[in-house]
Amino acid sequence: MEKLECIFCQETYSPDLMFPFCPECKEPLLISYPSRKRELFLEKDGLERYSDFLPLKEINKNLGLGEGNTPLLSLDRIQKKFTLPFIWAKDETTNPTHSFKDRGSAVAIQKAATMGVGSIGTVSTGNMAASTAAYGDRAGLKTYIFLKEDTSQEKLLSTALFNPILVKVKGDYGALFRKSYSLGQKLRIYFMNSVDPFRIEGYKVTGYEIFQQLNRQAPQYIFVPLSSGGHLIGLMRAFLELKQEGLIHNYPTFVGIQAKGCSPIARAFIQGNVKVERMIKARTIAQAISNPDPPGGNIALKMIRENKGMIMDVSDKEILAAQEMLAEEEGLFCQPASATALAALLKLPEKMQFEGHDKIVLIITGKAIKSTPGLESLKPDIHQTSLSGLEKTMNSLLI
Ligand SMILES: Cc1ncc(COP(=O)(O)O)c(C=O)c1O
Ligand SMILES: [Zn+2]
Repeated sequence: MEKLECIFCQETYSPDLMFPFCPECKEPLLISYPSRKRELFLEKDGLERYSDFLPLKEINKNLGLGEGNTPLLSLDRIQKKFTLPFIWAKDETTNPTHSFKDRGSAVAIQKAATMGVGSIGTVSTGNMAASTAAYGDRAGLKTYIFLKEDTSQEKLLSTALFNPILVKVKGDYGALFRKSYSLGQKLRIYFMNSVDPFRIEGYKVTGYEIFQQLNRQAPQYIFVPLSSGGHLIGLMRAFLELKQEGLIHNYPTFVGIQAKGCSPIARAFIQGNVKVERMIKARTIAQAISNPDPPGGNIALKMIRENKGMIMDVSDKEILAAQEMLAEEEGLFCQPASATALAALLKLPEKMQFEGHDKIVLIITGKAIKSTPGLESLKPDIHQTSLSGLEKTMNSLLI
């Protein structure tokens, strides 16, 4: 049986915790597996291919939306232009709601179904909100989306389409993240937030696909846009587990990338700190990765240091240039947050000393256009409240 584990103090807990954080270290808990031989079932499809590597007793195929199996596209023109080794883009924009978040929602929704909760929720203003709402809809579960007070109507439309219960909350966003769990426990709502252990397990599948697409090899480098930390943690775990099973011998160098205007994890990495310090102001065009208080920051730092990776930042100017280049040279239209991967690669070559046969994978996390024409006529019902009034509002919404 899988357990939840704190990677700082190694204490283990039941996988059914609705507040999956270590009571001592206050860090997110991750899934730990009993040591047994695991294998990939390549003759199967969807999540069943990876069932040995996922903490799910059974997989209900009806809960999926066709996530995954995303293309690994070679970026030949950019490679030649900058005389780089082989570069690929793992194009996560082809997922059902156009971002990698669907990988995590697909596994977390399976967990929700077995926990017997009637409702799910998340704290997000962007990609994760749309993804959670879509999977909640698919599973027939009531879905609560907690939003920042200043979230624009336009940004909401691609989420509102799935008809979740939208609650705009006035107050600190980090405090709202923590409050969502205490309310979730009280009201039996499974908040599958950015560092939910089952969501993180879902991100591993991207790593297994890359391994398959590169003829059962690990690339030398993987560039991952970084915000809360959940995605990077999942991808790193995927390759750690492949190595543990003897399926690969080299472990990739992971590069986590933040936007300069909101780079608390990159700062801690560069300054040699063990803990990430929350940033007061966040200002970047890469809104999807603009989390000043990243809940998975300390785990990401620890894993990157232990596995000889690095964390860096890129400016808005570099991000925009990379976004344009991906579109103009390679036909890829991604969000600024995703373009950080190429922006970082283009900053690195002299320092990194790539070898000619190296393989580099950039994770393209989300598509540029989320609110499409035609949605403007949607008039979503949005409940407004303060952080202190949130519990009362939620009680009124349960009826
Ligand atoms: C497009 C995009 N890229 C990257 C990220 C960063 O992922 P994480 O918060 O898991 O670090 C996000 C998170 O919302 C995102 O929406
Ligand atoms: Zn602990």
